[in-house]
Amino acid sequence: MSSKHDVNAVLSPAAELIDKFETRTARVGVVGLGYVGLPFAVEKAKAGFRVLGFDRSAARVGQVNAGENYIGDVQDQELADLVLREHRLEATESFARLPEMDVVVICVPTPLSRNLAPDLQFVVAVAAEVARRLRPGQLISLESTTYPGTTEEILKPMLEANGLREGVDFYLSFSPERVDPGNKRYTTRNTNKVVGAAQPASLEVALAFYRQTILNVVAVSSSQAAEMVKVFENTFRAVNIALVNELAMLCDRMGLDVWEVLDAAGTKPFGILSFYPGPGVGGHCIPLDPHYLEWKAREFNFNTRFIALAGEINRRMPEFVLEKAMRLLSDHGRGLKSARVLVLGVAYKKDIDDPRESPSAEVLHLLALRGAAVEYHDPLVPRFREHGLDLASVELTAERLDAADLVLILTDHTAVDYGFVVQCARLVLDTRNATRGLGCDRERVVLL
Ligand SMILES: NC(=O)c1ccc[n+]([C@@H]2O[C@H](COP(=O)([O-])OP(=O)(O)OC[C@H]3O[C@@H](n4cnc5c(N)ncnc54)[C@H](O)[C@@H]3O)[C@@H](O)[C@H]2O)c1
Repeated sequence: MSSKHDVNAVLSPAAELIDKFETRTARVGVVGLGYVGLPFAVEKAKAGFRVLGFDRSAARVGQVNAGENYIGDVQDQELADLVLREHRLEATESFARLPEMDVVVICVPTPLSRNLAPDLQFVVAVAAEVARRLRPGQLISLESTTYPGTTEEILKPMLEANGLREGVDFYLSFSPERVDPGNKRYTTRNTNKVVGAAQPASLEVALAFYRQTILNVVAVSSSQAAEMVKVFENTFRAVNIALVNELAMLCDRMGLDVWEVLDAAGTKPFGILSFYPGPGVGGHCIPLDPHYLEWKAREFNFNTRFIALAGEINRRMPEFVLEKAMRLLSDHGRGLKSARVLVLGVAYKKDIDDPRESPSAEVLHLLALRGAAVEYHDPLVPRFREHGLDLASVELTAERLDAADLVLILTDHTAVDYGFVVQCARLVLDTRNATRGLGCDRERVVLL
C-alpha cells in the first residue's frame, strides 16, 4: 500500500500541494509586508517554510532583506535570524518570482475613497500581477478586509481569464486577518482563523495551509461568508463603541461619571460586554471596514442603519472632546484661543505606534483651528504627520506639564507615568480614564 509520502504514489494536484504544506517544502509568497503581512511572513518562516515577501515599497523590501524590523508585533531578533542566519525569509519588489510560489497570500490595504466607497485599487493591482503569472497548482488566498463578494466577483474572474479553473487548476480562498496590534495574549498563532472558499478543493487546500501554523482554523462554506465574518466583527466593535460614546455624552450632560457606570455594569456576570468611550475610533479597521458592508448592502437595496449611526456618533467624538476642553478651560477662567494644550498620545490606541486614522489628529486639528498652541507627547510616535499637521513629540517634563493650560490625554500608553502627569499639570482632561485609581481631585483632573 502506498503512503502519501511514498515517492511512487501519484497524488492529485490538491493532495500534492497539501503534502508540500505538511513537509514544509511549499514556497510561501506574501504580498504586502505591512502590519498584517510581515508578522504573517515571519510566522510562516518560523514554522519552517521558505517565504518570499512582495512589496512595492523599496524601503520595506530593503529593510526586510537587511533583517531590520519595522512592525511592533514582530520581534527584532526573530526577523534578523530568519533573514540573515536561516535564510528562510526574503523580500522583493518584483512580481517575476510569483510562479515559484505554491501559495500567494495577499495582505494589501483596502482603504475607502473620499466618499466612503471601497477602494480596491491595491487588491486589483496585485490580482492583475498574480493573474498574469498564475500557474496550475497554486493557492491564492486573500486576507485584506473587504466586502462580501470580492473574492468571487473580482478576484476569481481575473484569475480565470487565462483559462485556468478555480478548484481544478488552482485554488482560491478568503481568510480574514484578525491581528490585534499590541495584543500580547492573542497572536497570529493562537487566534482562531476563519477560512472560506467556493470550491471544496480550494477549501481543503486552504484549510491545510492555515492549519500548519494556526492552532484553530474555522471553515465556512463560502468566501462571501468569510468576508462577512470580518466586516461583521469590526462593525460589532464600531457599534458598541458608538453606544458607549453616546452614553458618555449623555452622562456628561446628566452630571454622571460614565466610567463608574460602565465599571458597575461590567460586574454583571452574563449578558454584557465591556466597551469604553474615547476621543473617537482610529486605526485602519474599525472606522473603515463597516463602510465596506454599508456600500455592498446598497446593491441589495438595504440600508445598514446601525453602521451609519455608529459612524456618525464616533466621528462626532473629537468635537465633543473639543467642546469639553473649552468648557473646562472656561470654568478655570481661560479661553481656548492662545491656550497651551499638551496632548498625551497620538497613536490610535494604547501601546502601539500606529497613528493612522487616529482621532488625535482631528482633535489636534480642531484645537489648532481655534487658536490653541498645541504640542504632543507620545513615547511610541516620534513624529506625527496627519491632517496637515507636522509635529514632533516633545519630552514630558514637570516644567512642560506645569506650563500647559490643559493637558489632554487622548491615548493611554502604559509607558506614561500618569501619577507624574497629574502631580505636575494644572488642569487635565482624561478621555481614556488613564488616571483611574490615582485618587485625583476630579475638579482638576476631569474625565470624558
Ligand atoms: N493593521 C491591522 O491591524 C489589520 C488587522 C486586520 C486586518 N487588516 C487588513 O489587512 C490589510 C492590510 O493592512 P495592513 O495594516 O497590513 O496595511 P499596511 O499599509 O501596513 O501594509 C500594506 C503593504 O502593502 C504594500 N502594497 C500596497 N500595494 C501594493 C502592491 N500593489 N504590490 C505590492 N505591495 C503593495 C504596501 O507597500 C504596504 O507595505 C487591509 O485590508 C486591512 O484592512 C489590518
